Amino acid sequence: MGKLLGQSSSGENGVATILVTGGCGFIGSNYVRLVLQQEPNTRVINFDALTYAGNAANLKDCEANPNYRLVVGDIGDRAAVEKVFAEESPNEVVHFAAESHVDRSILDSSPFIRTNVQGTQVMLDVSRVHNIERYVQVSTDEVYGSLGDTGFFTEETPLAPNSPYAASKAASDLLVRSYVHTHRFPAIITRCSNNYGPFQFPEKLIPLFISNLQSDLAVPVYGDGLQVRDWIHVVDHCQGIHAALRKGKVGMVYNLGGLCEKTNMELTKTLIHLLGKPETLIRHVADRPGHDRRYAIDCSLAEKELGWRPTTIFEDGLRETVEWYRENRAWADEIKSGAYRQYYRAQYGHRGM
Ligand code: NAD
Ligand code: TYD
Repeated sequence: MGKLLGQSSSGENGVATILVTGGCGFIGSNYVRLVLQQEPNTRVINFDALTYAGNAANLKDCEANPNYRLVVGDIGDRAAVEKVFAEESPNEVVHFAAESHVDRSILDSSPFIRTNVQGTQVMLDVSRVHNIERYVQVSTDEVYGSLGDTGFFTEETPLAPNSPYAASKAASDLLVRSYVHTHRFPAIITRCSNNYGPFQFPEKLIPLFISNLQSDLAVPVYGDGLQVRDWIHVVDHCQGIHAALRKGKVGMVYNLGGLCEKTNMELTKTLIHLLGKPETLIRHVADRPGHDRRYAIDCSLAEKELGWRPTTIFEDGLRETVEWYRENRAWADEIKSGAYRQYYRAQYGHRGM
């Protein structure tokens, strides 16, 4: 991976402090590790509620780093957020914390409104009181809805979220926009396509399918499996977020994508071949209600203004990801031994899995 772009802005003691929310999740943990590795003068405070998706062990290798601190707390709890700001005086915020899984938002949207909308409001209010210098809202291409067979999402594409998850992310993006407009709040929004890589919770397509295939279990493909997603390696995404933090213009939205469209069937077959399993393990199951057909991102603005583009070659990134899940099977097995089983039954039981 290339060097991070730009230098950190410095706080009172010459050391920048970034408050990262949701740093124990998939993308957040990759981001925290990347910043700590590449910026010895940046302190990273990870504020995370450790929900089902948050795992402190994702950053085990960073625990001994004096520039890293984990604070367990909920972004919906204003007193807890105020406390961490008072203790650490961060000068930058990168806001990842969210409920992130579309299928769960279909089963119950309440936690999505609470964390993604109300939690973002708390983050904005407290960041504003503390005169934060830069704030990045980590958002998703799903706020744009679904594409037909052609075309790409640009930053000008109207918001048309289709799932409760996407609606909650669109709502939080609009709150951020309103704070920039009304309060001159120094925020930037990034909207990224589907991520893959190490530490992704095994409810999302790629880690779920790897995990099932490793155990010779069938993989549930929703509907005809011809839906298209634009896949990006998580480290490329993290580089894009960091470039937006350091080089982005306040008030701007930057789309980030992998320039890598695949149908779910293509991806499923590739995973099956990488794991050396038979295609008979594919099960077409009932489709996801309201399933978006195609996502594809035009990230030329990020290339022009941030000097960023994705660099991981999908075939290499996917092979390394499969390898990582092979080597870290205990990590996934531990997650899957708990409340995950209940979720799996609720989500897939009636689909015959
Ligand atoms: P994730 O579900 O793996 O992790 C979410 C993290 O947030 C967990 O550590 C969890 O404990 C924490 N969290 C949840 N609720 C919280 C709360 N109330 N207070 C504090 N912490 C809380 O999610 P992810 O896939 O890493 O996604 C991170 C962000 O990136 C989200 O905002 C998501 O919308 C966005 N995003 C994800 C993708 C993707 O492909 N996964 C793509 C584009 C954007
Ligand atoms: P997912 O990883 O949940 O990401 P998103 O819904 O945010 O795009 O799903 C990626 C694609 O894979 C999406 O089209 C839904 C499909 N999918 C399945 O076919 N089966 C599954 O079990 C899951 C979890 C997803």
